[in-house]
Amino acid sequence: MENKIKRIGVLTSGGDSPGMNAAVRAVVRTAITCGMECIGIRRGWQGLIQSDFVPLDAASVGHILDRGGTMLYTARSEDFRTEQGRQRAMATCKMLGLDAIVAIGGDGTFRGALEFSRMGMSVVGIPATIDNDIGCTNYTIGFDTACNTAIECIDKLRDTMQSHERCSVVEVMGRNAGFLALYVGISVGATAVLVPERGTDFEHDVIDRIRSARLAGNTHFMVVVAEGAGSAVDIGKKIHEAIGIEPRVTVLGHIQRGGSPNARDRETATRMGYFAVKALSEGRSNIVITTHDGSITEVNIEEALQMKKSLQMDRYEVLEAVGISMPHR
Ligand code: F6P
Repeated sequence: MENKIKRIGVLTSGGDSPGMNAAVRAVVRTAITCGMECIGIRRGWQGLIQSDFVPLDAASVGHILDRGGTMLYTARSEDFRTEQGRQRAMATCKMLGLDAIVAIGGDGTFRGALEFSRMGMSVVGIPATIDNDIGCTNYTIGFDTACNTAIECIDKLRDTMQSHERCSVVEVMGRNAGFLALYVGISVGATAVLVPERGTDFEHDVIDRIRSARLAGNTHFMVVVAEGAGSAVDIGKKIHEAIGIEPRVTVLGHIQRGGSPNARDRETATRMGYFAVKALSEGRSNIVITTHDGSITEVNIEEALQMKKSLQMDRYEVLEAVGISMPHR
């Protein structure tokens, strides 16, 4: 069967994440292997509106597999939320002769892609965000590297907290989700972890845990706060008011989004990029590429956007049991 898709556009949109470049590379190289041309759209959906593009060949995506950030730049486009903005983006697609768009990003990116598909453009989404908060997929590109970056920082903080016998309150990213905080909290052996998915009982979840750790002989404490669960500065103040110790507060911030992608992110991004283009070459579109138990799968984009993912509370139980032993709430 003749492949109807001759030229595809690829873009990265929303917050960047380590591994986006690996996905771009895989999309471009697979497209060429499948006899398609590939055009890079710079600055996400905004770039499509502004006709900001760069033709990509196999060599132009060389030496990016190991690089953080995105060679295509990224943006959060307000204009693309409007009908008028999307019309202009469609005009760019027509002018460039694009038959499909591969959009690499998170929830906002896919909402834009869905609207665009409703106007007749074929789209495929590849989930990439350090938040891991996309309902249709077990895993999003960049999450593992971001966890490792946060862990590395917190391990360093622990050295100085231990020397000075202090309490550290560390805020990690994740927007409205606690995946990053929970995985990192387990991995650094945090005294307490606050996530937005679980209502915080400050006395039980923070103060009692610090107290128990102290009674067990610990003299330094690590409290990890997901940004969606509150401000680390406020938590630090409350700890001071409640038990008199003066925590040192660290907001890890955008450092978590940078850095060379690790093995998991390079491998997942490469496979997702490959499967995105394969799907297009086989006549399937308007889907999001997903992972399920380690395999790459796909979900219709409309359904994908309705799917919810809950934080695995069994992991929270592990954290509670292993961090320090506490009686049940
Ligand atoms: O979605 C990724 C993310 O890093 C979130 O964890 C965070 O809340 C947000 O982006 C920060 O966005 P910005 O880079 O626009 O400050």
